[in-house]
Amino acid sequence: MKIAILGYGTVGSGVFEIVNSNAEGLARRAGQEIEVKYVLDLRDFPGDPVEKVLVHDYSVIANDPEVDIVVEVMGGVEPAYTFVKEALLKGKSVCTSNKELVAKHGAELLEIAKQKKVNFLFEASVGGGIPIIRPLNQSLTADEIEEITGILNGTTNYILTKMRDEGLDFDTVLKDAQAKGFAERNPSADVDGFDAGRKIAILTSLAYGSQVDYEDVYTEGITKITENDIAYATAADAAIKLFGTSKSVDGKIYAMVAPKLIGKEHPLYAVNDVFNAILVRGNFLGDVMFYGKGAGKLPTASAVVSDVVDAAKHQGVNIMTIWSNKKQQIADKATLATKFFVRVPEAEKAAAEKLFKIEKVMTAEGVTGEFAFLTAEMAEGDFEKAAEQLNVLNRIRAEL
Ligand code: HSE
Repeated sequence: MKIAILGYGTVGSGVFEIVNSNAEGLARRAGQEIEVKYVLDLRDFPGDPVEKVLVHDYSVIANDPEVDIVVEVMGGVEPAYTFVKEALLKGKSVCTSNKELVAKHGAELLEIAKQKKVNFLFEASVGGGIPIIRPLNQSLTADEIEEITGILNGTTNYILTKMRDEGLDFDTVLKDAQAKGFAERNPSADVDGFDAGRKIAILTSLAYGSQVDYEDVYTEGITKITENDIAYATAADAAIKLFGTSKSVDGKIYAMVAPKLIGKEHPLYAVNDVFNAILVRGNFLGDVMFYGKGAGKLPTASAVVSDVVDAAKHQGVNIMTIWSNKKQQIADKATLATKFFVRVPEAEKAAAEKLFKIEKVMTAEGVTGEFAFLTAEMAEGDFEKAAEQLNVLNRIRAEL
């Protein structure tokens, strides 16, 4: 089985390494030897073993009938979309780690793969090395999915963990994370929640079988989380985590990315540093959780290579994946019920007590001049209306 890898960056070089160093095991599991025939990249890599198979022109790969599987690990929508579509139309299976591509064009590419009796696989696009796409598509099929909640972004989980463990503010930790290579120079996609938004859009599309546009997913990042917020969380034996969540409630599908205050008993409480985890709740199964490295060269490449093995095992057979082009309506979050952790200036204590049903007053060592509390569960819309009447210092959704 000859494969071609599009992009010799972090993930692409990881795929090349795994296919070459684990050749025997892969051959056993795929039922045939897997060989990298081409690697496409604009750059040259003098002295690197990839040199022997390096090409600069995609048409060499697209037009070679010997290439059965194309691995797309370039990232970004273009030219990845054009290349992937052409490969599928030419009867080649495609395995990708590219969440931008999958979130935007997943439904269409799956349909082409189905028509051509090949496969479009994207295990690495969500949760890096964590198996979550295949379980959703093939293992959790007896149930209706009631909820998916995940820590889907390693960079923000690292930042929140450091802020808590070292008592540092967001900007200081972000700079440290950038210096260590855990955050991009332009960190917006991670810290503003867009990366997690694409990932929850993919998972929700798969869970409910129709297209969730990530633009419809309400998205809040972690840039407004302060040291004080974290001090209250720690005092309450709780943690603040960035969640990508989708829920099916009374026939409506909700999806959002937002920080959440969770207690010690929450299954995602102990997921720290760059780790990701995804909790799936089925109506018969109850909760299952998937935990591991959500990013990085070899974990992500490992998931891509598992797709290559799956594609090799299913030559000529399309693995049915239900994700139609039909747009999934995302319900207005105003009707979604949740608790809120709220901080207001101390002078507004009486007003807050009038406006909200307060479940618990919160305190934090060393934080003065403010009144902090946990509301009872209430509709988001009602919360917003009440909160407008106060000078809210911060509010974080809570599951305590
Ligand atoms: N920036 C992403 C993260 C990479 O931090 O999780 C994996 O998609």
